[in-house]
Amino acid sequence: MKNKPSLENAYDLKSPEDNIQLYSVWADTYDADFIEKMHYRLHFCVADEFILNGGRGLVLDVGAGTGALAEQLIKRADLILDATDISKEMLEIAKLKNIYNRSFLSDLTKEIPVTDDYYDGVVSSGTFTHGHVGPSSMRELVRVTKPAGLITISVNEKHWTALDFNTELENISKSVKNYTLKKIDIYGEQSVHDHKDDKAIILTINV
Ligand SMILES: C[S@@+](CC[C@H](N)C(=O)[O-])C[C@H]1O[C@@H](n2cnc3c(N)ncnc32)[C@H](O)[C@@H]1O
Repeated sequence: MKNKPSLENAYDLKSPEDNIQLYSVWADTYDADFIEKMHYRLHFCVADEFILNGGRGLVLDVGAGTGALAEQLIKRADLILDATDISKEMLEIAKLKNIYNRSFLSDLTKEIPVTDDYYDGVVSSGTFTHGHVGPSSMRELVRVTKPAGLITISVNEKHWTALDFNTELENISKSVKNYTLKKIDIYGEQSVHDHKDDKAIILTINV
């Protein structure tokens, strides 16, 4: 079954509509069956990098899902966090955790319903990956971030290469101060599944 929750099926998605369908089924079990069981750790890494680089203030978590990244951020700093995602069901699980100031639906492949220069920071873990969101959405993240704000997102390493994130980053670099890249493991040492050695790039943009 194509929309049976699994990493393989998630990587195989072809459109935002496919994402809505898969995550509507996955929302209830995502934390236990994906984050815990697969020893997913991207949300820890993005939270660490964002804080290390001075992240503060009003922050938008894009592709927020069930709120795993926000749970880590509030342990590290006093932030006001908004959430956006294409999946109503994922955001409903996140809402139960009482970590977000506000949450709203959006499709990151289109315009985010937020005015220019609104957020002090933008974060994302696990959403820039196969079958999900590509490089063109990075421009929207810059648009909604204030000058001198900070963006910290993870991008699956193979997705980065396959969709040529370098070219879009080069274009964006003309309108931001600077950016840095850092390669990390997506899953913890205890993981034993087929994707245990997968890597992601943590992209930090100083707007
Ligand atoms: C692998 S989950 C990551 C969730 C969370 N950030 C984490 O680290 O656990 C990917 C999330 O991206 C969302 N997503 C996929 N395509 C999207 C799109 N076009 N616009 C907004 N969100 C999208 C999915 O609904 C899902 O919640």
